[in-house]
Amino acid sequence: MKSAKIGLLGFGNVGGGTYKILTDNKAIIEARTGISPEIVKILQRNRNKKRLVSVDPVLLTEDPDDIIKDPDVDIVVEMLGGIEPATSFMLQAMKAGKHVVSANKAAIAANYKILTDTAQENGVKFLFEASVAGGIPVLTSITGALQSNNFIEIMGILNGTTNYILTKMTEEGLAYKDVLRDAQEKGFAEADPTADVEGIDAANKLSILMALAFDTYVAPEAIPTTGISSITESDICRAAEDGKIIKLIGKASVRSGKLEYSVQPMMLDKAHPLCGVNNEFNAVYITGDMVGELMFYGKGAGPLPTGSAVCGDIINIMKNMEVEK
Ligand code: HSE
Repeated sequence: MKSAKIGLLGFGNVGGGTYKILTDNKAIIEARTGISPEIVKILQRNRNKKRLVSVDPVLLTEDPDDIIKDPDVDIVVEMLGGIEPATSFMLQAMKAGKHVVSANKAAIAANYKILTDTAQENGVKFLFEASVAGGIPVLTSITGALQSNNFIEIMGILNGTTNYILTKMTEEGLAYKDVLRDAQEKGFAEADPTADVEGIDAANKLSILMALAFDTYVAPEAIPTTGISSITESDICRAAEDGKIIKLIGKASVRSGKLEYSVQPMMLDKAHPLCGVNNEFNAVYITGDMVGELMFYGKGAGPLPTGSAVCGDIINIMKNMEVEK
């Protein structure tokens, strides 16, 4: 059987999940594609960290060039997080003729144009389904099944950490600080939770959604963004008295031909479908001119849900590439 040679940049939560899926579900992937996914090298920056999976140490390297510059590698999967060196590694890999898959919302939102242009100039695929809403296949739907639509509005609960915190504050009357600690312990939060609680992570994801749905790139720092760090128990109670629930919403909509966008806590009527999205779950509520209203719901974080989206991109590339090995 032919094989696709895959290099993983990063072996944290998402890297571990991706490795596990490509290993545990290898047989079904081979049956569906006729190609074997073969992980040939893994960049692991912190050897002492506890891992989701154990691997043959011969696969591990601390030198990114062992992946980016290896002529045998077909697909580079970037799961490092952070803007740099992730962006530079992805650009180098594309210039070396490798397809790139990424889960890294911060790097993609910051450098969307150069990454997509460089992929195009070098005739390689650049897929990033896992960067927005983890396991939910929202980007592939926007660029695939929904591509005949003019999109009118996208509203999303795009950050699991803040949704978890708001849910616990609403349902259990807990204080913001106590729930944040709990979310960090559960592993939803970013290494620095400021990006979660101040809405920056959601703004990165909204920037990527807008680039694909509205063909308009808006840098994340240009999106008016308010997080949840100043929401108090009394704000939550006041909203409840009015029959509303507070959710952190990333929203982009076209009004009189103009694209408007923001990330902010919003009071939604309890009957709104997004109010039923609780804990670390994410959801994206889309209105298209032809399809009408749709809601995508699922896990927006975690090794296996996010790894599922990464692997979907890898398999799509495998199906389309000419593998001559
Ligand atoms: N910190 C992010 C969240 C992880 O809480 O949603 C997934 O992007």
